[in-house]
Amino acid sequence: MHLVQLAERHIMIFIPEKEYNELHNQNLVPLNININVNDFLSDMIEYDSFFKQWGDKFTDLPRYGLPLVNKNGRLDNDPEPVCWPLDRWNFVNLGYNDTPEDFTKFYKDIQNNINTDKLELEIDFTEPTSALNMKSLEPLNEIKKYMVRSCILKWNIKAHFKPHYDTWHPVRWLRLWGTTNPDGMYLRFKSEDTTDGFCMWNETTKEHEIYKAEKNIEPGRLYLINTLKWHDAFAFKDDVYQFFIALNVDSYDHLLHGTI
Ligand SMILES: [Fe+2]
Repeated sequence: MHLVQLAERHIMIFIPEKEYNELHNQNLVPLNININVNDFLSDMIEYDSFFKQWGDKFTDLPRYGLPLVNKNGRLDNDPEPVCWPLDRWNFVNLGYNDTPEDFTKFYKDIQNNINTDKLELEIDFTEPTSALNMKSLEPLNEIKKYMVRSCILKWNIKAHFKPHYDTWHPVRWLRLWGTTNPDGMYLRFKSEDTTDGFCMWNETTKEHEIYKAEKNIEPGRLYLINTLKWHDAFAFKDDVYQFFIALNVDSYDHLLHGTI
């Protein structure tokens, strides 16, 4: 009896393509998790000095990160990989030459499953920092147990992310996203529809592509975001905060049944 039960118990280590697609039935799936923007902005006064410049490149851009879940729970790590694009962190630490050609090779290697066992992944970051305890983030309480690499992003005018994607099959984490100020930024996904959108140069695919901005984003609401698709983002106002939250796959049932 016990043996049968054990054999039938299914432990998910990745989310199969069919389940992933069903869950991400649109680019941004609204969740019933809402962060009060005014309360959050008040909490930010206390944490302002803990934001770090995002990554080691484009440091002229006003992009800052505050760790919520990292490797050791500290807010003073330097460097802090949670506040780097993780692809850039892996690229630098795996010893590729710092050239655009090698960065393209790095992306192609991932697609071909080369070196992927050496990558640091979102799920390798599991320790909450004190910033996760701020009062305005209490709406996250139900999902805190699933949270892996997560941070708050703070962007000012001209901060942006170029076209990229953040996950690939087999999918081992899910990503939530939200912003305090949807009128101060664009979040855009690559679109096959060429009748509307922005033409962007994709440095990795070496193609011009159409990116379309998401509409009707509510301030403070969290969304399940499909970061398997190419996307980019741009701030055209100051003080645009974004919730940048990864969840391990144990959150699958909760997201499927609990919060949507
Ligand atoms: Fe992204």
